[in-house]
Amino acid sequence: METCDQNNLKNLIKEFLTDQNCLRTYEHCISVGDYAYELGKEFLDEPYKARVAGYLHDISAIYPDDQRIDVAKKMGIELYQEELELPMIIHQKISKEIALNEFNVTDPAILSAIECHTTLKEEYSDLDLVVFIADKIKWDRKGEPPYLNQLMVALDISLEEAAYCYIDYLLNHDIQVIHPWLREAYLKLKHH
Ligand SMILES: [Fe+2]
Ligand SMILES: [Fe+2]
Repeated sequence: METCDQNNLKNLIKEFLTDQNCLRTYEHCISVGDYAYELGKEFLDEPYKARVAGYLHDISAIYPDDQRIDVAKKMGIELYQEELELPMIIHQKISKEIALNEFNVTDPAILSAIECHTTLKEEYSDLDLVVFIADKIKWDRKGEPPYLNQLMVALDISLEEAAYCYIDYLLNHDIQVIHPWLREAYLKLKHH
């Protein structure tokens, strides 16, 4: 995908999200995509894929948490018990469906990175890791993430180390529900 296509994608995403009053999500998506691209230049053969995945990763923000179970069911998405308990987590799977159906993203590697950007998964790729980490560094809240320094130190070692560092932080802090993909990714990273 050439630069002009990516600008076009950016405009389409902006239109899509501003129509739904999600301008803040748009800014977060662009910031994650651009950062993922920079990170991707170090670790990936095709860093543009990280940018596309980042741009679209939270596109499902148009659906509030209380609609996510219904929306997922209508889209034919299978849900875990953990996702019924905490519908916020479903947004990664809904974003993947929107990327595929509304933005015609068909590359399975990009779709995978969108689909697991919150929880990661056992069979993660480098692209999955890059987008996962970029989303944690350029988080969607105010100020700096409390884990940022640790995460950057870990990132100097490897993508796996950084992902492990973040999940370890999460498990020791404010986690409400442990998604099965997160647990599996954590165990795999631990023994990496
Ligand atoms: Fe997200
Ligand atoms: Fe995000």
